[in-house]
Amino acid sequence: MKTKRIAIYPGTFDPVTNGHLDIMRRAVSLFDHLIVAVALNPKKNPLFSIDQRVSFITESTRNINNIQVLSFNNLLVDFVEANKAVAIIKGLRAVTDFEYELQMGIMNRNLNESIETLFMIPSQEFSFLSSSFIKEIAKHGGNIGKMVPKNVVSAFKKIKP
Ligand code: COA
Repeated sequence: MKTKRIAIYPGTFDPVTNGHLDIMRRAVSLFDHLIVAVALNPKKNPLFSIDQRVSFITESTRNINNIQVLSFNNLLVDFVEANKAVAIIKGLRAVTDFEYELQMGIMNRNLNESIETLFMIPSQEFSFLSSSFIKEIAKHGGNIGKMVPKNVVSAFKKIKP
């Protein structure tokens, strides 16, 4: 029997954006199974709890087959190995992402030689998006409706003073 080819798409996803969802749709078509790995990442001091971040993605990917959303709080390469995945997917929006992503990719390869990092390009309309921009725009009452899924828009409405 053919072994399933599993990929991991990690991130903080605070919150998930339409750009992240675009990468998920593209990545799942290349593998048998995609695990979206939501990092607890306390050093980023996330606005949304880990459970919220996981459930935003779970709800938004309900109509996509072969996607699973999990949280993690250990080394990414260990999480990848524990889930028998072969690749890490990262989205590259602009050249500015590249240096940092290259460093992380090389560090992860040093930690585990057998795991490949694949960089994917989101659709051009999402190439300017970032979770920090979304939080900034939402905080000032701007319209984020075209940039994030509906459940994220609703969550921001609830936390607005
Ligand atoms: N659309 C929109 N935004 C995107 C995007 C896309 N397609 N791709 C990336 N981004 C944005 C994110 O929204 C985020 O923006 P922000 O900084 O404004 O919040 C930014 O790009 C990337 O942030 P994040 O999701 O936190 O990813 P990261 O590249 O900083 O890495 C982990 C996060 C979880 C992968 C990394 O910290 C990790 O591996 N942690 C586990 C511990 C570990 O193994 N450490 C050693 C690593 S060498």
